[in-house]
Amino acid sequence: MSSYKIEGGKKLRGDVNISGSKNAVLGILAAAMMLDGPCKIENVPDIVDVQAMLEICETLGAKINPCGGGVFEIDPTNISTYEATHPKVKNIRASYYLLGALLTRFKKATMYMPGGCNFGNRPIDLHLKGFQKMGAKGTRSTDIRDGIIRIVADELKGAHIFLDVVSVGATINLMLAATKAIGVTTIENAAKEPHIVDVANFLNAMGANIKGAGTDTIRIKGVPVLPGGYSYSVIPDQIEAGTYMIAAGVTRGDVTIHNLIPKHMEPLTVKMIEMGFGIEQGDDWIRVFANEDTELESTNFKTRPYPGFPTDLQPQATVLLCMANGMSRMHENVWDNRFQYIPELQSMGASITVMERIALINGPVKFCGARVTALDLRAGAAMVLAGLAAEGTTTVMAANRIERGYEKIVEKLRAIGADIIYVEDDVDEHIVTVADE
Ligand code: UD1
Repeated sequence: MSSYKIEGGKKLRGDVNISGSKNAVLGILAAAMMLDGPCKIENVPDIVDVQAMLEICETLGAKINPCGGGVFEIDPTNISTYEATHPKVKNIRASYYLLGALLTRFKKATMYMPGGCNFGNRPIDLHLKGFQKMGAKGTRSTDIRDGIIRIVADELKGAHIFLDVVSVGATINLMLAATKAIGVTTIENAAKEPHIVDVANFLNAMGANIKGAGTDTIRIKGVPVLPGGYSYSVIPDQIEAGTYMIAAGVTRGDVTIHNLIPKHMEPLTVKMIEMGFGIEQGDDWIRVFANEDTELESTNFKTRPYPGFPTDLQPQATVLLCMANGMSRMHENVWDNRFQYIPELQSMGASITVMERIALINGPVKFCGARVTALDLRAGAAMVLAGLAAEGTTTVMAANRIERGYEKIVEKLRAIGADIIYVEDDVDEHIVTVADE
């Protein structure tokens, strides 16, 4: 089991580059499995979840040619199976996109239920109900046996689908299934996250006809063929960018974060300004800075679907709120159990009370180094942030969970002045959960 060892209290200064979006590329890789010709994908982050997805795609029969520098040539033309039963399907949440992709390609799909859940109930009923409206069978929860989903359709037909809960995964999955369906599909109350727009842009570049991605209503006119044949560059990772903005904040440093889309960062930027941080921004960069003597004001965050504050930045922003004077609130609206990491932060000195979906944070806190565990990907990032701000040494166990979503995090943090090292084979039976995003 790997860990990070952090000597805290160093102000971060300098420049950091953001990698391609994890959640966008995972959707795009699944979408690439539906193409009738090859394509090239650029700005692919070298992270564990992407490696897993590439491996799964290869076992389906896709040819994957890594060209270096985050560029991959992908040729799905010889995909020969509709069964996604590689064990890693169970490790990553986004493997659920293969249902939509394989259903499109073969009119049937067999797949393990996607990864375990760590922050509450994570159903995929909206995905399955949408497939059913498009003509698929095997979509009832009682059809799922031994953790395997088997869906079939004589034909996929366009449908009017209203999502009664805003769901990122269901929006993308139904968009995939509709891309080559007969007729027009409308998805109402669609999620609007940047990576949904990115998957739609990728598919349109490859020959699809998708309009409205990024709004409440997405309209997909089915096309008979997706020729592919083009290069597509993945958008920057909104959550990685936010994590580095917060890293600059919690260490009262001065960091310019490059290769991000400032518009995607607005829900965090406005809050950091409200708290008293200095923020400057340009076309594709944001500088975050703070003085030691700046009094940080407490504030309240509520996680919401985009353009609201992203739940995937909730644990990191909670660390930020620990630095503010007085009582702040973090309200988690998306997941019903995403405060499991709070006891880890408390062991570093945080003063936090959780009342169901609200965490009351009493600051300012001077974190002290401790041995803590990355209970999941973003909770792990929060532990790293607390360790950077802490006095003394922090060991973050189960660092492999953080590497599911952060490319070269140790190198990037060291380049801006953090004292963090990667330690292999540090064993600790305190590690309790296996997490998934
Ligand atoms: C995606 C992200 C995850 C992020 C989440 C919310 C990926 C791989 N993961 O997860 O990091 O935290 O969006 O931004 O992109 N729901 C249902 N039925 C469904 C599907 C969802 O009730 O069929 C509910 C969920 O319980 C949850 C809410 O909808 O309360 C949002 O979930 P959703 O947007 O689907 O999250 P994921 O796609 O799983």
